[in-house]
Amino acid sequence: MIGKKMEEALNDQVREELSSAYLYLAMAAYFAHEGWDGMAHWMRVQAEEELEHALRIFDHVLERGGRVTLQALPAPEETWPSPLAAFQAAYKHEQHITGRIHRLVELARAEKDLPAEAMLGWFVTEQVEEEDHALKVVQLLERVGGDGRGLVLADRELGQRGKED
Ligand code: FEO
Repeated sequence: MIGKKMEEALNDQVREELSSAYLYLAMAAYFAHEGWDGMAHWMRVQAEEELEHALRIFDHVLERGGRVTLQALPAPEETWPSPLAAFQAAYKHEQHITGRIHRLVELARAEKDLPAEAMLGWFVTEQVEEEDHALKVVQLLERVGGDGRGLVLADRELGQRGKED
């Protein structure tokens, strides 16, 4: 049976993961509207991953006899000044999520909640990948700068993203 403190903290993280999906869907809509279909695809795949993250925690709470309480999600922004600015915001968001996951691991340790700690271990590794993926796109777009042709090629490349990338 999961403890109340951990249950509450994991419910908060379900909200954060759903909120991440919401943010990336907003970015997908922004890119699609601007005609950047490859970047829109990248963000859509990312949003789907975030939903999977939320469900991982959702299932963990339920499997341990806890209660899942879904919370209200804040509306994400709708627009960004440039593709680079959007990916910079995505990278910053992932750093924020990493910090939250690390604090959850610390809480699991303090509570001596070994199952939660083991479940969160997956997220610790995943966040290394999440930050790396976002940063790589930031670096790519920084290199491209204001070169329109380069941006078109970058968009094409980002449109190739598979589910596990
Ligand atoms: Fe669920 Fe992108 O962290």
